Amino acid sequence: MEDYANAKLVEEKVFKDPVHRYVHVRDQVIWDLIGTKEFQRLRRIRQLGTTYLVFHGAEHSRFNHSLGVYEIVRRITDDVFRGRPEWDEKERLLILCAALLHDLGHGPFSHAFENVFQTDHEYFTRQILLGETEVNSVLKRVSENFPEMVAQVIEKKYPNELVVSLISSQIDADRMDYLQRDAYYTGVSYGHFDMERILRVMRPRNGQVLIKSSGMHAVEDYIMSRYQMYLQVYFHPVSRSAEVLLNNILKRVKQLNKDNYPFIVEPIHFKAFFENNIRLEDYLALDEYILLTYFQYWTKEQDLILSDLCSRFMNRKLFGYVNINPEEEPERFGRLKELLEMAGVNTEYYFYHDCTSDLPYDFYRPGKETTRLPIFLLMPNGEVRELSQESLIVDSIAGRIKTDHKVYYPKEIFQNPSVDSEIKKELQKVLFS
Ligand code: NI
Repeated sequence: MEDYANAKLVEEKVFKDPVHRYVHVRDQVIWDLIGTKEFQRLRRIRQLGTTYLVFHGAEHSRFNHSLGVYEIVRRITDDVFRGRPEWDEKERLLILCAALLHDLGHGPFSHAFENVFQTDHEYFTRQILLGETEVNSVLKRVSENFPEMVAQVIEKKYPNELVVSLISSQIDADRMDYLQRDAYYTGVSYGHFDMERILRVMRPRNGQVLIKSSGMHAVEDYIMSRYQMYLQVYFHPVSRSAEVLLNNILKRVKQLNKDNYPFIVEPIHFKAFFENNIRLEDYLALDEYILLTYFQYWTKEQDLILSDLCSRFMNRKLFGYVNINPEEEPERFGRLKELLEMAGVNTEYYFYHDCTSDLPYDFYRPGKETTRLPIFLLMPNGEVRELSQESLIVDSIAGRIKTDHKVYYPKEIFQNPSVDSEIKKELQKVLFS
């Protein structure tokens, strides 16, 4: 019988990586998965969506990140957990595959795309693992139910929580990779922490990962770096502004298709999405290169809204923004909308309220999260304590993040000579007073 699960490469392969220095591959299965077309597609999807329009270095892809998550888990299993009585070596290949493939179902500019077309990357991850794909045929060679097991780990349904927690908990390989990677590529100075130290103090115990209390300060640094990265990078108001444009481009295209608008360049890649009859091959045919190609073509469309929104996106003419929470200031919000309409602005496509709690990011909130395991410390006397009970720093920022409300509008309105100067004055008052 073929022992594919344990097959090793004749020579170890290494990828040069700016975050982890090297990514090591010794297993034939991992090497074969990296070579599949579904995994290679991740090269054409950016890790941070529209963030490159603010931090120009942020061009890194989900491919880079996926290799990074794999490498962190490989170090945990091979260097830290190996030989420990609570670690079952038989889970090794499973968790390595799940780490590598955890973001496989992400599409181009996931957030806006999923919002407009109601798709779900987690659903497509499962489809790619279990459907007729190259990834599926590699996984099936390990064993008939191996693809299903990988899907269960990624979906947090696998019975051994220890395995699940390595890629989804409050301190997992996914987060440890993206924080460092996003910090590296955006060039910001926060986001760094001593991962080597954290890995060295991780202990498998009672079906979960505990952190030896001597490593608490390294974990505090990790939590602080998350806090900084969320506020400074992930919730950056200008990249959210680009996200708003993207959202409205897709919304406009969907509407035009519904109205039988005669596109100069037929959006054939979108047909399945318009009709909500999406086969896996339709989904896999999309990537950010395809979307941006359409946006470039659409700058020449007759429809003025579509062509303008696309030109704005391609040439980075983003909307301006102002802090308004429509629930707290309904009158100001309503007045702004009214004035914009008086100035001839189509508020369906040029006016948008966005709040950060809509974004798929969460924060360290002990007890408030059911989907992610909190961080537990292993005290010298063998006791187990939740992190925020021990750490003053973590306790003081836990659950403190505020929802940030922004309203986006076309700021060029003040330069438009055809807009009445009284309306401009009123707008100034509503926006900046
Ligand atoms: Ni990830």
